[in-house]
Amino acid sequence: MHFHKFEKIWLIFGTLSLAAFLTIVGVTAFAHGHTPAGGMDTIDPEKVAETPPFDKPGVRQLDDDTYEAVIISQAFGYLPGKIKVPAGKEIIFTLTSTDVVHSFTIDNTKVNMMAVPGRITHKSYTFEKPGTYLVLCNEYCGAGHHMMSTEIEVYE
Ligand code: CUA
Repeated sequence: MHFHKFEKIWLIFGTLSLAAFLTIVGVTAFAHGHTPAGGMDTIDPEKVAETPPFDKPGVRQLDDDTYEAVIISQAFGYLPGKIKVPAGKEIIFTLTSTDVVHSFTIDNTKVNMMAVPGRITHKSYTFEKPGTYLVLCNEYCGAGHHMMSTEIEVYE
């Protein structure tokens, strides 16, 4: 008798868990389709230079612990070139491309952003150690692809 009761409880519990799980999966999939993860936004690739924040590419401080690095990718380089950011602070990279797909890949970190024309990509990263970090383009973008790189100077 007791077992029967427990089985029933578990059956209900199991069903509810499954329903909850499917709801979460469904909602997540839906959310991904409609507001892409990573905070992607759209932009007219022809008007990047006039569209904030890309009208002023570079690093700016948002608050005591947060900086934003606005970067334009184009064949075959990044605008601005070398940037300087502080260690131990959150850096929000905001990226787009004016022409083809590039990447903004910071060597020895987990930052590997896609720069897609028509889209704005964001990625937050905190450099723990000061130093010079190499940035490379990992997406084949044309004849100058292998030369497409820059540096980030992370200061104390
Ligand atoms: Cu840009 Cu490869």
